[in-house]
Amino acid sequence: MPRLLIKNAKALVGTYPTGVRRVSGAEMAKLPMIEDGWMLVEDGRIAAIGPMSDFPGISDWSGLTVIDASGRYVLPGWCDPHTHTVFAAPREEEFVDKIKGLSYQEIAARGGGILNSAMKLRVLDEEALFVQAKARLEDMMRQGTVAVEIKSGYGLTLESELKMLRVARRLKLELPLQVKTTLLAAHALPPEFKADRGAYLDLICTELIPRVAEGGLADFVDVFCETNYFTAAEMERVLEAGARHGLSGKVHVNQFTSIGGVQAAIAHKALSIDHLEVMTDADIDALAACPVAETPLATLLPSCSFFLRIPYAPARAIIDRGLPVALASDHNPGSTPSGNLNLVLSLACIQLRMLPEEAIAALTLNAAAAMRLDEELGGLTAGKRASFIITKEVPSLAYLPYAFGTDHIDTVIIDGKPFRAGAALQ
Ligand code: NIG
Ligand code: FE
Repeated sequence: MPRLLIKNAKALVGTYPTGVRRVSGAEMAKLPMIEDGWMLVEDGRIAAIGPMSDFPGISDWSGLTVIDASGRYVLPGWCDPHTHTVFAAPREEEFVDKIKGLSYQEIAARGGGILNSAMKLRVLDEEALFVQAKARLEDMMRQGTVAVEIKSGYGLTLESELKMLRVARRLKLELPLQVKTTLLAAHALPPEFKADRGAYLDLICTELIPRVAEGGLADFVDVFCETNYFTAAEMERVLEAGARHGLSGKVHVNQFTSIGGVQAAIAHKALSIDHLEVMTDADIDALAACPVAETPLATLLPSCSFFLRIPYAPARAIIDRGLPVALASDHNPGSTPSGNLNLVLSLACIQLRMLPEEAIAALTLNAAAAMRLDEELGGLTAGKRASFIITKEVPSLAYLPYAFGTDHIDTVIIDGKPFRAGAALQ
């Protein structure tokens, strides 16, 4: 295992003290940093960290690669706690229909949308699904992503949901990034159950969840709680069944309408509530009333708003009420065909009015927390995995989201090994 010493970093960013699990409200803007810093990496972990003025010297230089990071920032690798990155085919035809004026809901009503993806996934073999998803994840890793949550939800049959989760588990075994998986069988009502929605919920709660839990195929359970998809009461059933089998909730709520999903998710102690484009005052009040440690992370997906031309989540109101915000890509073929978290960083600042420091906290520590990886990732902290980004030479931290659409990443290290090696490593 190579040992690495980073020297002269313009700043080491996100140097949270050990034990900080998430940051909420005003804490989000206080991004801890060490200017002109050094960091030692051993056995794939961050071994020590500090300012150059306090550089203790290295007694054993054997096998040590030294990186001079002058002019460059070192940041924790991005964490992506909400994706649907295992899918069978893109949906550019719906993209063109949207340009012509159809809405996401109108496309879904015509048999497009999630059901379109499900019909294609059901007939595609596992190997082909794996190969496609692997290429997408490699692309995301080059863009700085070091951990990802992957949902099922394009199978909508027992066998095809299991197939998706097996693909995700194989990605976890064969790729260097951290992978968490989520059962999202309640993503849309499959046509076979049109006349009997209760029977599909029975299948999810009494067959799929126990099978998935037994096989260790998922870490979490999800429901698309939305008008024309699943009601808050139906989501509660799924969350209860998940809880009985040790699967916490990470749920889609308030993307288009507010139908009680936030309150139901809180009642069932969901780990994160995602989307939140449409939030009433009562929804924000309900979140603000949660005990701090039990507040679900509000996981916002600005690339989805951008692509669908729907409202952006009220990030400012959520943060200003003292709540924890995470960010994710929502990478999927229908609403967000991009897994690039650098774009999410820019959109969070430009459209959600998050400060660069808040957005970085939301894409690192809070994003890790939104998939229970905060003890492993999300900060430059001794003991955590050495999965980090070295930027190109840039004038300031705010320049990263400011100069949007430009690749500012030089090098990506995952668990102490270069995944993308740029000029800093030469
Ligand atoms: O998070 N909204 C529900 N699920 C996805 C979109 C799925 C699709 O259109 O294929 C989302 O946006
Ligand atoms: Fe989603």
